[in-house]
Amino acid sequence: MSDPLERAKEAAGRNAAGYVSDGMRVGLGTGSTVHWTIVELGERRPDIVCTATSLRTQELALQLGLRVVPPDELGELDLVVDGADEVDPLLNLTKGGGGAHTREKLVAQMAPRFVVVVDESKLVERLGPFGTPLEVLDFAPGVVARRVRALGALEVTTRAERSDNGNLLLDARFGAIENPAALARELEAVPGLVEHGIFLGETVERVVVARADGSVTVLLHGERGPNPP
Ligand code: A5P
Repeated sequence: MSDPLERAKEAAGRNAAGYVSDGMRVGLGTGSTVHWTIVELGERRPDIVCTATSLRTQELALQLGLRVVPPDELGELDLVVDGADEVDPLLNLTKGGGGAHTREKLVAQMAPRFVVVVDESKLVERLGPFGTPLEVLDFAPGVVARRVRALGALEVTTRAERSDNGNLLLDARFGAIENPAALARELEAVPGLVEHGIFLGETVERVVVARADGSVTVLLHGERGPNPP
C-alpha cells in the first residue's frame, strides 16, 4: 500500500480499535477507514458483541470471527466507531458516501460514545463540497428532490445503486453549508426523505484523524464550541 492517504485510513481505523475493551457492545460503521478498525478487532478478538451498520460490514466482521447480532438484540451500545466523508471544525459530519447513513445514524444514537475515524483529506471548513447524501422512498423521488431544491440545493442527483434498505440514494449539492443544524432540521421535515447524511457534532465524542505524514491526532467534541441554533 503506497498511497499515504490509504495508509492514513489504516492508521486511523486501527487506532480507534484501542477504545474497544472486553465486555463492550460495539457498533461497527461502514467504509474503507472503519474497515481497519474491524480488521484490528478481528486480529485482537476482544470479548465483545457487535452490531453492523451495513450488510458488507456484517459480512466482514463475521468473516473475521467477530460476534454480530441485530441492533434490537442489544438495544443499547457502549461505543460506535464509524468513518465520515467530511468533518467540520465543530465535528459536524457528512456521511453516506457508501449509502449506509440511515443505519449508521440509528446505530450511532444507540451509544453514548461515537468515535469517528478519518484521514486528513476529510477535514473541511464547512460541510458541503462532498454533497449531502439522502435516502429517499421510491414512491415520489421527484417530489422529494423538488422539496430539497426548494431548501437551496443547486443540484440533486440519483445514484444507480440502492441502500441496504432497498431505498433510493440521492446526493444534494448545497454549496458550502452555513448552518448544518438548521439544514438538518429542514431536511427532516421533508416527507419521503428517510434520512440525510448530516450528523451533528453534538453526537460525536471524538474524531481520530490520521495524516499522510503518519501522525494521528484526536479532535474532541466541544473544543471549538457548540453549533449555533
Ligand atoms: C457510509 O455510508 C459512509 O457514511 C462512510 O462512513 C463514509 O463514506 C466514510 O467512508 P470511507 O471511510 O470509505 O471514506
